[in-house]
Amino acid sequence: MRILSGIQPSGTIHIGNYFGMIKKMIESQNEGELFAFLASYHALTSVKEKEALEKNSYEAAINFLALGMDPEKSTFWIQHDVKEVLELYWILSNHTSMGLLERAHSYKDKTARGIQANHGLFSYPVLMAADILLFDSNIVPVGKDQIQHVEMTRDIATSFNHAYGKEIFILPEARVDEIVATVPGTDGAKMSKSYNNTIDMFTTPKQRKKQVMGIVTDSKELDEPKEWENCNIYALSKLFMNENELASLRQRYATPGEGYGHFKMTLLEKINEYFAPYEEKREYYLNNKKEVREILDFGASKAKKIASAKMEIIRDAVGLI
Ligand code: ADP
Ligand code: TRP
Repeated sequence: MRILSGIQPSGTIHIGNYFGMIKKMIESQNEGELFAFLASYHALTSVKEKEALEKNSYEAAINFLALGMDPEKSTFWIQHDVKEVLELYWILSNHTSMGLLERAHSYKDKTARGIQANHGLFSYPVLMAADILLFDSNIVPVGKDQIQHVEMTRDIATSFNHAYGKEIFILPEARVDEIVATVPGTDGAKMSKSYNNTIDMFTTPKQRKKQVMGIVTDSKELDEPKEWENCNIYALSKLFMNENELASLRQRYATPGEGYGHFKMTLLEKINEYFAPYEEKREYYLNNKKEVREILDFGASKAKKIASAKMEIIRDAVGLI
């Protein structure tokens, strides 16, 4: 079973990204054959500054490696190193109706938010279909907002297969994890970089402390018992503590004498402890960028083998002699 995951390189990641997506992706390396790439071409639809794209790409690669992406076991590359995807994008464009693209929610949402409507943004789903179909992917883990893109990929694949009378492409399945609840931010709303309510994964001790101390609570005094049920500190503690630790935390909530500041300090210590080993690895890659580039090259060479073999079949099927 082949699992394929594409991630737009964005510089900073928060614990919502980690528990919502990255952790599961890393774990899926034990479940099937993982193909994971940094969607640098897709990022061009929103990042228009050279330095920002370069920085974000390195940061994303380093973050994934630090968090356990195993370049030997999995195939991990950056999209633009395997250019076959652009050839397939063109071929698939000829099997993609305007109507299909016009119905894309993501395009409509983005242009409604003022992002310039251009051809790259409009044809984004065709490139995503090429990413998926080029590698005969079976499973594509995505967030809810990307389900429609995987469905469009199935539509495009079906019309291509039909046009040439052959099962050239496998129809992929989107996998959406409903079990992982949305990670709440420091204000209790969904944690998101757009809401200024994040706890970042890799940041300075000072900044992390500031973020944890900023968690919103009610205003109960030290000598009052407190409720853990709707408390944002408790909700976030659940990500970092085991059942015994949570039971003792609940006990502390029920017992007057401590304030929310104490519970925040406990959470802060747990977060620091949890990410410490990753931080060490990240530091290493930050100081060895050349090695990061080599790891991406190695991944691209593995991906390219599969992509070029697949492109031969596709060119032959359509009559590109
Ligand atoms: P943001 O909302 O901060 O802009 P992105 O849209 O870049 O985050 O999300 C990247 C990935 O992280 C997606 O797969 C998304 O489902 C996941 N993710 C983001 N925020 C959360 C959250 N609060 N809880 C769970 N998963 C999240
Ligand atoms: N569009 C995806 C996102 O913004 C990223 C992506 C590009 C992708 N190509 C993909 C995801 C192929 C899965 C498969 O999150």
